[in-house]
Order: sequence, then structure tokens, then C-alpha cells
Amino acid sequence: MRTVRTGFVRRAAVVAALLLPFTSAFAKNTYYQQFGEKAGIRAVVNRFVGYVLSDSRISHYFATTDIPSLKSALTDQFCQEEGGPCTYTGPSMSSVHRGLGVNEAAFNALVSDLIKGMDRQHIPVAAQNNLLSKLAPMESQIVTR
Ligand code: HEM
Repeated sequence: MRTVRTGFVRRAAVVAALLLPFTSAFAKNTYYQQFGEKAGIRAVVNRFVGYVLSDSRISHYFATTDIPSLKSALTDQFCQEEGGPCTYTGPSMSSVHRGLGVNEAAFNALVSDLIKGMDRQHIPVAAQNNLLSKLAPMESQIVTR
């Protein structure tokens, strides 16, 4: 009886070990994976920045901004915050936004555009909330008036 059970357990362990690579490949475990990895984050950033640039509440802030480089910086930043293999190498949030005169209404408008972009790309709510929870504490470095 003992050998039967041991044999079964051992066989189950072998089957589990063989299946593991497939389950981890298909299970959308990490927030980074839930975003669709780097390509999914890039797609969210494209949508998000598109909404920002056509949002009359805040588009004027970006009148002289290099948009491709903004998109690339945001992609790295979001990827890093969601646990992906990326590093945001740009300046600190306080030095980037110093002097722009961002107020709370503008901050909230931008966040609503980000949520719209994530919804449009069908990002699961848990992953959306995780990113928002990482960005929320940055408000004190971005809002200056
Ligand atoms: C959580 C909210 C925000 C995050 C995470 C964020 C992040 C960033 C990042 C990563 C950059 C690029 C930095 C670089 O590489 O040079 C950037 C630039 C910029 N952000 Fe934000 N930002 C936020 C909120 C806002 C808000 C609310 C506004 C204004 C409504 C704003 C206006 C700008 C502008 C105008 C630039 C470009 C500055 C330039 O042209 O040099 N940001 N932001």
C-alpha cells in the first residue's frame, strides 16, 4: 500500500513538474503579465497619451513636449512599477514637473485619461489598481500649486 501511494505521489510530482512551464506560461500571474508585458504597456501608454493630448483640460501642458520620448519614458516607468524587467532612467518626478504649475484638477484629469486608456486595452482591474497605487504617492512631487 505504501509503495503504491509513494509511487503515485512521485508520479504526480513528475507530472506537475512537467506541466509547470506550461501553466506559468499561460497563467497571467504577475501584474506585468496582466498588462500584456512591454508591448501591452506600450499600447496602454499610446492610448493614454492620445487621450491626454486631446483632453482640453490638460493638453496645453504638453504643447512643447517631445511626445515619442515621453511615451518611451512612461512605458519604462509603468513597466518598472508593474514588476517588469525595465528601468526608468529619466529625471525625478519633482524635477520633471517643477515649474509646470500642475494643480490637483490637472493631476486628476490625467489619471482619468490613464484609467480610460487601461480600460480601452482591457487591463484587469487588479493590475490597474496596482499601477494607480504606485503612481498616487507621486502626486506630492508633481502637483505644485
Ligand atoms: C502620476 C502622474 C504622472 C506621472 C507618473 C508622470 C510621469 C512623467 C514622466 C515619466 C515624464 C517623462 C520624464 C522624462 O523622461 O523627461 C513626464 C513628463 C511630463 N509630464 Fe508628467 N507625470 C504625471 C503627471 C503629470 C501631470 C498631471 C501633468 C500635467 C497635467 C504632467 C505633465 C508633464 C509634462 C508637460 C511632461 C514633459 C515635460 C517636458 O517636456 O520636458 N505630468 N511625466
